[in-house]
Parts: sequence; C-alpha cells; structure tokens
Amino acid sequence: MRIFFVSSVILCIVLSTHSISLPTGLTTCKRSDADFNKCLSKAIENSLKTLRDGNKEFGIPVIDPFFIDYSESTTPDGNENFFLRSSLRNTIITGLTQIKVLRTATKFNKSFGLKLEGKIDRFSIIGDYTMNGKVLLLAINGEGKCNVTMNDVIVVADGRGKYFEKNQNTFVELHSLTIKLKPKHVSYNFENLFKNNKELSRTLNDFMNEQWELVTENLIPGYEENFGRLFMKIANKIFTNVPTNEIFRE
Ligand SMILES: *[C@@H]1O[C@H](CO)[C@@H](O)[C@H](O)[C@H]1NC(C)=O
Ligand SMILES: *[C@@H]1O[C@H](CO)[C@@H](O)[C@H](O)[C@H]1NC(C)=O
Repeated sequence: MRIFFVSSVILCIVLSTHSISLPTGLTTCKRSDADFNKCLSKAIENSLKTLRDGNKEFGIPVIDPFFIDYSESTTPDGNENFFLRSSLRNTIITGLTQIKVLRTATKFNKSFGLKLEGKIDRFSIIGDYTMNGKVLLLAINGEGKCNVTMNDVIVVADGRGKYFEKNQNTFVELHSLTIKLKPKHVSYNFENLFKNNKELSRTLNDFMNEQWELVTENLIPGYEENFGRLFMKIANKIFTNVPTNEIFRE
C-alpha cells in the first residue's frame, strides 16, 4: 500500500513536471527587465531554430521545412477581374526558422497579447496546386506543381489569448493569431495553369510575375489565414502546457 502510494506520488510528479517545463533549449526572459522585449525577440528566434526538427513530447511537427498536407484558399470577394479558388497539397514551406525578430510587444494583464515583427530573407511555398477561377478575361483551370518564392518578407504576427487555471497554475490559450506578410518581391511559377495549353500557361505566368504586386495582394490573404491557424495550434502546444510565468518569468 505504502509502496503503491509512494510510486503513484512519484508518477504524478513525473507526469506533471513533464508538461510543466519548456522544451529543452528554449530560453526565457524576465518581464521586469528593462530589455524584456529585446530579450524576447532573441528568445523567439532561438526557439524557432531549436524547434526546427519538431518536438515529440509537445507534439510539435518539423517547422522548417514545414509540411502542410492540404490547404485551400479563395481570393477576397468583390474583384470580378481576379477570382481564384485554389488548393495546395503536399506543400513544403521553407525559411521560417530564418526569421530575424525585429521587435516584440506583450500584454499580460486581463488578457494576453504578443505581437512581433520580423524579417525573413527568403520564404518558399512549394507544392501541388489546383486553381480555378478568372484572371482578367482568362478562365483558369490549372493543376500541377507550384513554387511561390518571396524575398525580404516583413512578417507581422499578432497573437491574442485568454488565461486559464489548471493544477493551480495559470496558462494562456491563444484564440487568434493574425499573420501579415509583406514581401519586397514574389516570384510565381504555376505549372500547367491551362490544362494542355503550355503556351497560354507560360503567358499567364509571365503576366503574374510582371504584375506580382496585384497577384500577391489577391493570393496572400489566403496564405496568411492558413499560416495563422496552423501556427496558433503550434504555439498553443507550448502555451497550454507550460505555465505562463515559466515562459515569461515574473
Ligand atoms: C494593460 O497593459 C498595457 C500595457 O502592457 C496597458 O497599456 C493597459 O493600459 C493595461 N490595461 C489594464 C486594464 O490594466
Ligand atoms: C522556386 O523558385 C525560386 C525563385 O525562382 C528558385 O530559386 C527555386 O530554385 C525554386 N525551387 C524549386 C524547388 O523549384
């Protein structure tokens, strides 16, 4: 009986400490330090590098290259000359762990907030796409490999969360994460945009690259939404398992 009791206490301690400390290699910052936000910028940069190959204990997948099984997006409503519905399968995103975090801002009272602005030199989205809709007067119905490569991307992420209590500890759960990508340049390569018409497909790719700003403005909101949702899930694996005051020391 006594042995049983002792071993269950030990088991409980092991199980609870398990979910209570940060993944190995992640650093923390002290909120009261004058350079807290600067420290946090470095800590986030390092965390992404440390978690590059994922973390089994926390259920975090490999983040660079980041794999997305399936995603869909639709261009924003209201533009009759540019309407596309697209899907991406077997997508590989590279460059995330190269982010340089330029600044962060945090909010810890009542509700939780974390904003960051960073820069990624080169960010690629490569996968199997399907796309249909209309660009100018052309009806698109394509399917094949695609490569969207962005250069000098400013990334702005804004995460908002609520606190909750578990085992006498306070945790945060993010309920929104909006991501904005502002690339300095984007190159597009969509193979086979018009089924069985290579010539027209090439012409439209050339057009997309010449008019990359217009194309980006229409395609990027869908990407941003998908990234926001996926990264909120990943961030919550840490936020909901490690007490807030262990991540951001008081
Ligand atoms: C919460 O903190 C932010 C800055 O961290 C401050 O601007 C805001 O006034 C605070 N709000 C409350 C309700 O204390
Ligand atoms: C994707 O496009 C970029 C820019 O054009 C190019 O440098 C890169 O090699 C391409 N990647 C693949 C896998 O095709």
